[in-house]
Amino acid sequence: MKFSAVKRLRGEITVPGDKSISHRSVMFGSLAKGTTEIHHFLRGADCLSTISCFQAMGVTIDISGDMVTVHGNGLHGLKKPESILDCGNSGTTTRLIAGILSAQDFDVTLTGDASIQKRPMNRIITPLSRMGARIRSLHDNGCAPLAITGTHLNGIHYLSPVASAQVKSSILLAGLYATGETRVSEPYLSRNHTELMLSSFGADVRTEDTTAIIQPADELYCQKIEVPGDISSAAFFLAAGLMIPDSEILIRNVGINPTRDGILRVCRDMGGNIELLNIRDNGHEPNADILVKTSSLHGTVIGGAIIPTLIDEIPMIAALACLADGETIIRDAAELKVKESNRIEVMVRGLSAMGADVRETDDGMVIRGGRPLHGTVIDSHLDHRIAMTFAILGCCAEGETEIIGADCVTISYPQFYQDLKGLIQ
Ligand code: S3P
Repeated sequence: MKFSAVKRLRGEITVPGDKSISHRSVMFGSLAKGTTEIHHFLRGADCLSTISCFQAMGVTIDISGDMVTVHGNGLHGLKKPESILDCGNSGTTTRLIAGILSAQDFDVTLTGDASIQKRPMNRIITPLSRMGARIRSLHDNGCAPLAITGTHLNGIHYLSPVASAQVKSSILLAGLYATGETRVSEPYLSRNHTELMLSSFGADVRTEDTTAIIQPADELYCQKIEVPGDISSAAFFLAAGLMIPDSEILIRNVGINPTRDGILRVCRDMGGNIELLNIRDNGHEPNADILVKTSSLHGTVIGGAIIPTLIDEIPMIAALACLADGETIIRDAAELKVKESNRIEVMVRGLSAMGADVRETDDGMVIRGGRPLHGTVIDSHLDHRIAMTFAILGCCAEGETEIIGADCVTISYPQFYQDLKGLIQ
């Protein structure tokens, strides 16, 4: 797919539902008693993988537009699937389901696509095994396929070396079934959707500083869930609105949970004109409309506790930094190397190819903004966030930018190109 410079972006959009919240709503709905109704569900490939895994374990799930109805089987009602569970491209599906499956009374094998089979699973295998789980990497390489034989688990206090909501959530979900309390302490607080949503489903879960604590549950109870728009999807239009001349975009109904809102803080820090309007709470997750206008930007330094709150937005932030005055330093972001692609390497390569001054570091990158960017051919490495980042950058660069593997946006934002086109004037 090809992109070239646009004059301006103007108008309103509603981004699709939050990916993390959509996954969890299906998982917890499946484990709950009764019927869970999910509105503004993200019908992206990743969340559909979660749905098909639970359908394979005997849960009835109906999809109608962006509404999903989950007829829960109760905490102990999952059935042994007839074949291997396929998590597709989804790390969240793989890691969270592994926590649940560790405590069932059947055995199962979990796998996914080529990218998933390269992503690190020891980060969940280690703590789950410490709880008593029988889980192993079939090829002994610390990656999926994972063979899991459900068994009895015991609560632990796990000191996680990484701030990862997937690791934390996997352990907390196992903790629902364990004997005794389960605690997960992280170096920095990662996204807390699991804690918020499990608590509304009736679990006893609380947070002390960067430690999440869960008690075993007897049952979870169905809920009605309004999924807010995904701030990670909104981020592409936030950045586009800031970078592209004469632009003004209203992004409606975006989740602004403080464990996810680092992108807003960074954009403002860089001089971005961003206003939050109509701030509200849908019961559990705060959301707002975001108005963004073209701004002149300057570099910034990002590291430490803010990193988990914007981890998926770093490719777009790196692109923004190329169009900002001065230097931007991104550090403490080594986790980017184990996402759908090695996002440090892939971004540095792509940005450099477009003419940017960018240098890879051990845990991030250093970008000196202000050089004119020119179009080129960019390989997305089938990473949805890389494809969307370079599509936006292609709208700012001189000449033509061609994205290879552009269709991978179906993972998290199937309507992305249509939404972008609708804003071009
Ligand atoms: C997610 C957590 C993050 C994020 C991913 C979704 C989640 O991953 O990058 O896109 O839904 O829990 P890590 O937990 O590996 O940081």
